[in-house]
Amino acid sequence: MDYVRLGNTGLQVSPLIIGCMSFGDPHRGPHPWTLDEDASRPLIRQAIEAGITTFDTANVYSAGSSEEIVGRALRDFGRREELVIATKVHGRMHDGPNGAGLSRKAILNEIDASLRRLGTDHVDLYQIHRWDPLTPIEETIEALHDVVKAGKTRYVGASSMSAWQFSKAHYLARMAGLTTFVSMQNHYNLLNREEEREMLPLCADLGVGVLPWSPLARGRLTRDWDVETARSQTDEFGKTLYREGDRAIVDQVAAIARERGVPRAQVALAWVLANPVVTAPIIGATRPEHIDDAVAALDLHLGEDEHARLESAYEPHEPAGF
Ligand SMILES: NC(=O)c1ccc[n+]([C@@H]2O[C@H](COP(=O)([O-])OP(=O)(O)OC[C@H]3O[C@@H](n4cnc5c(N)ncnc54)[C@H](OP(=O)(O)O)[C@@H]3O)[C@@H](O)[C@H]2O)c1
Repeated sequence: MDYVRLGNTGLQVSPLIIGCMSFGDPHRGPHPWTLDEDASRPLIRQAIEAGITTFDTANVYSAGSSEEIVGRALRDFGRREELVIATKVHGRMHDGPNGAGLSRKAILNEIDASLRRLGTDHVDLYQIHRWDPLTPIEETIEALHDVVKAGKTRYVGASSMSAWQFSKAHYLARMAGLTTFVSMQNHYNLLNREEEREMLPLCADLGVGVLPWSPLARGRLTRDWDVETARSQTDEFGKTLYREGDRAIVDQVAAIARERGVPRAQVALAWVLANPVVTAPIIGATRPEHIDDAVAALDLHLGEDEHARLESAYEPHEPAGF
């Protein structure tokens, strides 16, 4: 596997990142479709054996149990010095005041809680999961800088927000001589390309790595529009992201996959991987073949005509996933 630099940093990440939202106690948190620990561990091991070194989780995934499961599996199957462990902060972790958001208090509490659950003394990438309108961004970036200086994370990144917000945060940190953001984890796939307008050009200009989430549109790009799975039936957030008009794009993916004789997931992922602004997509795997397909997609190069066909049915969307 050819490892890639995360934006302008010297950090090498694998060209595929394992999304650990798939792993978690289905009875904790709002994702009843997740794989429990016994079902998750073989997939984490398979990914490591395939050369994938980079794993993305969040404090909020399955109420912390994703971090617990992933931490134990990475300790058992991986080599810490090679692994890149990314987690996130912002979501609600407890009722009452200071249970969510990006205040100094929340960030300093939550990094310690994530490290405890992951069973490591540092993460490699600590990401703000969303923008917090209730906390001055200056407070957030100073707290993140302190997390870096305390050795609890190597780098800081951000996730879905407006381009103006990310630009403001980035330049405020730079002007103050504080740690700047090295990555943007955002929603980007064939069904939602709105990030091409502002965020992707901004990241290219800043030299920030781009780590798209839901590159397969949460599975929609991998099967006929009307087919449902255990996840699609209970993925409440996922239900808000796509719409009937996207069906024509799913049909194009199916047609090209048929012509090529490969699974649809490979075609949809190859399209994301072909964008030079993209550093590494964060894939969601719930079966072994999902990892195999993702690895195979690294070697699938679509032609210009195939790109044009995949992109021709796209219609502008309302911003989604913020
Ligand atoms: N920062 C954020 O706000 C944010 C938001 C969302 C996700 N994320 C991150 O991104 C990661 C990935 O998100 P995602 O799970 O939505 O990504 P995704 O890769 O778009 O969707 C994964 C789903 O697609 C289906 N699938 C995957 N590979 C397949 C294959 N080869 N053949 C057939 N079906 C396949 C499976 O659906 P079924 O299980 O239904 O079969 C799987 O659960 C998460 O784990 C998380 O780390 C971050």
